[in-house]
Amino acid sequence: MAALKNYTLCTYAILLTLTFCYSAMASHSSSQAMKGAYFPSWAQNFTPSSINTNLFTHIYYAFLTPNNVTFKFGIEHTQALLLVDFTSTLHAKNPPVKTLFSVGGAAEGTVLFSRLAADSWSRSNFIHSSIEVARKFGFDGVDLDWEFPQSSQDMVNLAFLLEEWRVEVEKEASATSRPPLLLSAAVYYSADVLFDGPPRAYPSASISKNLDWINVMAYDYHGGWDPSATGAQAALFDPTSNVSTSYGLGSWIRSGVPRSKLIMGLPLYGRTWQLKDPTLHGIGAPAIDVGPGPDGTGVLTFAEVVKFNKDNKSKVVYDLTTVSVYSVAGTIWIGYDDTTSVTVKIGYAQRLGLRGYFFWAVNGDYKWKISKRASHLWSL
Ligand SMILES: *[C@@H]1O[C@H](CO)[C@@H](O)[C@H](O)[C@H]1NC(C)=O
Ligand SMILES: *[C@@H]1O[C@H](CO)[C@@H](O)[C@H](O)[C@H]1NC(C)=O
Ligand SMILES: *[C@@H]1O[C@H](CO)[C@@H](O)[C@H](O)[C@H]1NC(C)=O
Repeated sequence: MAALKNYTLCTYAILLTLTFCYSAMASHSSSQAMKGAYFPSWAQNFTPSSINTNLFTHIYYAFLTPNNVTFKFGIEHTQALLLVDFTSTLHAKNPPVKTLFSVGGAAEGTVLFSRLAADSWSRSNFIHSSIEVARKFGFDGVDLDWEFPQSSQDMVNLAFLLEEWRVEVEKEASATSRPPLLLSAAVYYSADVLFDGPPRAYPSASISKNLDWINVMAYDYHGGWDPSATGAQAALFDPTSNVSTSYGLGSWIRSGVPRSKLIMGLPLYGRTWQLKDPTLHGIGAPAIDVGPGPDGTGVLTFAEVVKFNKDNKSKVVYDLTTVSVYSVAGTIWIGYDDTTSVTVKIGYAQRLGLRGYFFWAVNGDYKWKISKRASHLWSL
């Protein structure tokens, strides 16, 4: 409510004094700001110690996956060492950050989670094991990354899972006199999942009640799965469809999840295409394939995009309509976010009264440029 009031206040105040309005809003936003980022444990040449913790408040270890028969985590010796290194390094940094481990991820898919959530025995095994792993390895919380519930029944089961998880987390906290573990989830960009089957709504009441926050994955709107046209993979606005961050965040707000529990996702990577005709290079231009990127995925980290643009003398275009950036070199087209588009998105998220933002993924930045800009803006 405070955020809403500030927003209304701003609408009037903007006529009088921009400065006042800005500081009134910013002080609200910074009170419990969330500056998150996922750490891909498979990243080469990037360790927890390389993370500049001045720029983040929460770092997620990606990913752990429970066993598909017992639904408990089986942590092998080498992984145990990595987990201990992750939490101890990040807690010992100055300033320290909170650590969560994230469960699942895009590569895991949906089937394991559908089975896990479907009955109370598997839910209970998973929940108890997640709490045990978090405490044993020194994490502050657990993040569920189920991509994505496939049916309305999955959504109902997800609600049960979150409900039971919260109960056990509170029980454990009072039994051990420790602060409860944090519980979060990475979710689809909109409160209704709109692809691969019938539209299905997330259980927003259970989410609001049982999770500390959700990470809204506001990216991957376009990519190699549609190689026929370029696209702004994390467009803030799209006048021609609902596939945009403004629509997604609006749908989460309409679903009833409190703004203080909504975290806007920002990509530290771009998606590439090969243009059909180098002279036609707008957003939605005809393409024949994905462009550069390992394994033919057409994905480059922001740091790789910066290098590519420099090496190939790319033309860089900021697109006002979508609030995104693209670069063109010959027939190679790359859509991504830079400090400019992120600046506009941060302003948008603050005006909505959201709690903060997170990045996928922390190793993608170029000299911490985007992370620094975002952190600075949210702290103003
Ligand atoms: C469980 O995982 C194993 C090893 O990855 C796989 O061979 C098996 O098919 C999976 N079982 C189920 C029920 O998904
Ligand atoms: C966008 O969403 C709104 C409300 O959810 C709906 O009424 C409208 O039909 C959607 N538009 C498109 C192009 O799908
Ligand atoms: C652009 O530069 C990259 C190195 O950053 C190089 O690998 C690639 O071949 C170049 N691509 C084109 C189309 O020139």
